[in-house]
Amino acid sequence: MAQILIVDDDAQLRQSFGKILEAEGFEVRTAGSGEAGVAEVAANAPDLVVMDVRMTGITGIAAMQRMRTAVPNLPVIIMTAYGGTETAIEATKLGAFDYILKPFDIPDILRLIHQALDAGRLARAHVAIDPKDEADAETQGDALVGQSRAMQEVFKAIGRAAPTEALVLIRGESGTGKELVARALWQHSARAAKPFVVINCVAIPETLLEAELFGYEKGAFTGASARRVGKIEQAGRGTVFLDEIGDMPLPIQAKILRLLQEKQVERLGGRELIPVDVRILAATNRDLEAAVAEGRFREDLYYRLKVVTVGLPPLRAREGDVALLARHFLSRLAREMDMQSPGLTPEALDLLAAHPWPGNVRELANALQKALIFSRGAPIGAEEMRQAIGKSGSLDGLPGLHNQLEPSARGNGPGTGPSLGDNPLRAFIRQALLDAAGDAAYEHVLDAVARGTIAEALEITGGNRTRAAKLLGLSRPTLIAKIEKYGLKMTTQVQ
Ligand SMILES: Nc1ncnc2c1ncn2[C@@H]1O[C@H](COP(=O)(O)OP(=O)(O)OP(=O)(O)O)[C@@H](O)[C@H]1O
Ligand SMILES: [Mg+2]
Repeated sequence: MAQILIVDDDAQLRQSFGKILEAEGFEVRTAGSGEAGVAEVAANAPDLVVMDVRMTGITGIAAMQRMRTAVPNLPVIIMTAYGGTETAIEATKLGAFDYILKPFDIPDILRLIHQALDAGRLARAHVAIDPKDEADAETQGDALVGQSRAMQEVFKAIGRAAPTEALVLIRGESGTGKELVARALWQHSARAAKPFVVINCVAIPETLLEAELFGYEKGAFTGASARRVGKIEQAGRGTVFLDEIGDMPLPIQAKILRLLQEKQVERLGGRELIPVDVRILAATNRDLEAAVAEGRFREDLYYRLKVVTVGLPPLRAREGDVALLARHFLSRLAREMDMQSPGLTPEALDLLAAHPWPGNVRELANALQKALIFSRGAPIGAEEMRQAIGKSGSLDGLPGLHNQLEPSARGNGPGTGPSLGDNPLRAFIRQALLDAAGDAAYEHVLDAVARGTIAEALEITGGNRTRAAKLLGLSRPTLIAKIEKYGLKMTTQVQ
């Protein structure tokens, strides 16, 4: 008969859960604190521990560490009412058998208990317990937000893979948080104190990418006037994140494969092989299998990459996470924009929950930012949210700059600090930026500002092009060309 120790400071839970386990034929012992649990383990050597995280006294995680120092292969299931990422990652990393959110369904926990007991000792990747990890967990807060089952699995996968030296491939649709996962893997690794270097394989042209990654010797090509050390070499004993690896050109794939096999790099035009000690992480939103079939991705590299994969679910498959993320982004964005978060109406939240989010978490964050920018203190409603989600925000549909500068939009007047309400120009620029989002955004924003400036000059001069040109310091033909370029049709033309 297996003996199970329940550790929780909630006496009622201990009693009712204990009864259930006894009815299942287990021998049950209980402890009301982490310290008592540690003493129980030392005295009675249970087969399994099921333990809460937040208790008075030491946390369940700390208690688990002590228990497992005393009994190295003791399986521990952690229960918590707070689905924080850090707790899930830490618990798994520190060897918890599994992690379950309260309230849980009895069949679920029983299944876990049987698995844990059956498995006996599991092969687990372990690092020596570093006290720094606990401090980190506190200061980092919950970087990755999510309580859905799908995300809990991701956190566990991070916890298992992080402390190993394994090459990890992170897969998921655009905007699902692949870069954030890469950072979590690094932060929870033994290389956390060493650099984290991101290389975006799609943003850089092939020749530059090669130089960027591997460096070059003086004279390696025209323009190589001095030796340059590549990013991989620069990373020291750190972690290199190859983002969008699915888009990496074939010749560079070959070099990466060699790096993985031989742990050496060769600078362009160089003769010596330089030993490097980096951990590689990679991400892609591409269909790598198709790329392999089409000969765009090396099969041998593909097989190496896919050994340890963390798959990120699309946002629409993360039940309940949209509301959680919305809260997270609203408070973070409001803080960044130095404003009070106005909150969301229940209808707006329903709308968010029902939206399919093809752009995933990034799209949600952008939509909330847009909604915040245009909010005027009242909670964001469904209609405002709908507008912020839709591509309705194209600049042509926006009021001109002069409308944004109406006194009513100026907020509390001077002297009240740089809140967004006081700074419609900034809101306008942000909107233009979000609309273009990466896609020649800089030019797009400058165009938007240029268009607004001309519209304003025409407004001030009652549509008189000659005076508007003077005001702007432009020649009349230049102004007329710009009016045409920006499609500014004057309805009231007083010459
Ligand atoms: N679970 C999450 N909790 C909090 N923020 C998140 C989460 N997932 C993603 N984000 C945020 O959403 C944005 C997009 O995430 P990220 O850049 O990691 O996505 P990605 O998968 O790398 O996308 P792409 O394929 O387009 O590069 C970032 O601002 C990130 O901080
Ligand atoms: Mg990315």
